[in-house]
Amino acid sequence: MSAAYLNGEIKPLSETRVSVMDRGFLFGDGIYEVIPVYSRRPFRIEEHLDRLAASLEGIRLQNPHSRSEWISIIERVIAASESADQQVCIQVTRGEMAVRNHAFPATVVPTVLVFSEPLTPPAAALRTQGVGAVSAADIRWLRCNIKATSLLANCLLRQLAVDAGCAETILFRDGLLTEGAAANIFVVRNGTLLAPPKNHLMLPGITYDVVLELAVMHQLPHRVCEITDAEVRSADELLMTSSTREVLPITVLDGKPVGNGQPGPVTQHMIDWYQDYKRTVMHGEKP
Ligand code: PDD
Repeated sequence: MSAAYLNGEIKPLSETRVSVMDRGFLFGDGIYEVIPVYSRRPFRIEEHLDRLAASLEGIRLQNPHSRSEWISIIERVIAASESADQQVCIQVTRGEMAVRNHAFPATVVPTVLVFSEPLTPPAAALRTQGVGAVSAADIRWLRCNIKATSLLANCLLRQLAVDAGCAETILFRDGLLTEGAAANIFVVRNGTLLAPPKNHLMLPGITYDVVLELAVMHQLPHRVCEITDAEVRSADELLMTSSTREVLPITVLDGKPVGNGQPGPVTQHMIDWYQDYKRTVMHGEKP
């Protein structure tokens, strides 16, 4: 069973309901987080809760819970769910309205939903063979650093990849790489890992941070800098990162091979380092 916490109560996810007058449903007026859980231990929970707090501030919604309250809610949902490995989704909306009105209600009672689903990391074959991607213009708004529930543009963009039999859509704005429809994107050129800078045009990924930390730890040359469309298309390697898909090589972009069409050495090292790091911190194993 997958459990859900809704405004103080834990129930099976399948029995959890919110009002149709909820601003999250009618306006997408809310924010969310997705936290991977391995062996019932949430990964980088502090960082996810920091980003949740930043998203709430970004949409002018007061954080409904203290840090320790969030941790206890998340622990309750994990304990009430069946799988050892889970993805815990937190969603906070600006609550229910008496009448439909774009303006904020005078009194806001946020809707707090925390639910779990089993986490299935990508098949090993995807890590060894790589995945395909397509590219598209980044048609989203200018506050992509907020993890907002209004994900229509992301859904339309991700579907372009699915329609082409690919795993992700790589987005460009004004000729520069921003990120993927639901992942961050890294580029490798001449042995150096390149990452687009965190700004209002992309989500500051928790996995993105881990990848840069691993680059420092393993003395991999890396740089955070603007990356052009041409640099992406002539990259030696491309990789995507997210909490649920971890680190994956992108070996085909718009039907053309990336580099030699095989996962490159930097990506393969990063995948190994990420898996080792995860095992070390989450399962308490020795490195
Ligand atoms: N998405 N960029 C976008 C637009 C994303 O939606 C995500 C993750 C990321 C990667 O962030 P992180 O490493 O913190 O997961 C980047 C989640 C998994 C989702 O919406 O399901």
